[in-house]
Amino acid sequence: MTTSASPDAIPEPPKGPSHVAIIMDGNGRWAQQRNRPRLFGHQAGARRVREIVEACPDIGVKYLTIFAFSTENWKRTQIEVAGLMTLFKRYITKEMQAFVKERVRVRFIGDRMRLDPKLQALMDETEKLTAENDRVHLTIALNYGSRDEVARATKRLAREVSAGKIEPETVDETTLARFLDTHVLPDPDLVIRTSGEARISNFLLWQSAYAEYEFVDTLWPDFTRDHLAEVVGRYGLRERRFGAVPA
Ligand code: IPE
Ligand code: IPE
Ligand code: MG
Repeated sequence: MTTSASPDAIPEPPKGPSHVAIIMDGNGRWAQQRNRPRLFGHQAGARRVREIVEACPDIGVKYLTIFAFSTENWKRTQIEVAGLMTLFKRYITKEMQAFVKERVRVRFIGDRMRLDPKLQALMDETEKLTAENDRVHLTIALNYGSRDEVARATKRLAREVSAGKIEPETVDETTLARFLDTHVLPDPDLVIRTSGEARISNFLLWQSAYAEYEFVDTLWPDFTRDHLAEVVGRYGLRERRFGAVPA
């Protein structure tokens, strides 16, 4: 059956992504270009986040998930890792009230247990203080790795099975997804990586099964709201098929 649109019909505006996930990469190279230590780049990168979060409601993005520290980033020098951990603590302390004021709901994903208890406490406090907010949902991936997340989810699922609470035969995709750190979030529609690298580096592997990807050359500290709006605009022109034949 074919349907023909009436000549007067107003074409539907392209639908934007509701959930955007960003691999914020390139801080180190940004600092290197300026002959400064890598931490200088991380500080500049952290300052970028506010602008990008604030841009989201204006361009129709309800969920923003950002990759701040991966389970593999512990392999960096002790100086860089310690500097990053201090930066996260300072950043959360400084931004907490702004998140409340701007009605941003903040969540963290990743394995918190390995983080400094002071940082964990700040993360818990931010989540509690912003729990009623709904203007934009910001999820910060901190000590996050997709494989680690799936392994932790499987461990908890296995415990439920051995306690007799879940029948192994009933386990399906939805069951496993319920145990992931992202269980309350929709899947990302668009994943952006800055800095020109075209890889995923263990970010949201399960959740991004049908996401669109955009790899942009801009280094994260230079990524502005205009860059975001441009990438989001391109997304509207893409056709997502989810394995089906286009209608
Ligand atoms: C991303 O920037 C931030 C973190 C991984 C913490 P990088 O530090 O990876 O910057 P490059 O890739 O070395 O330029
Ligand atoms: C991914 O970037 C992690 C974050 C942006 C936090 P990396 O810089 O760690 O990834 P690789 O090492 O280039 O794959
Ligand atoms: Mg990098």
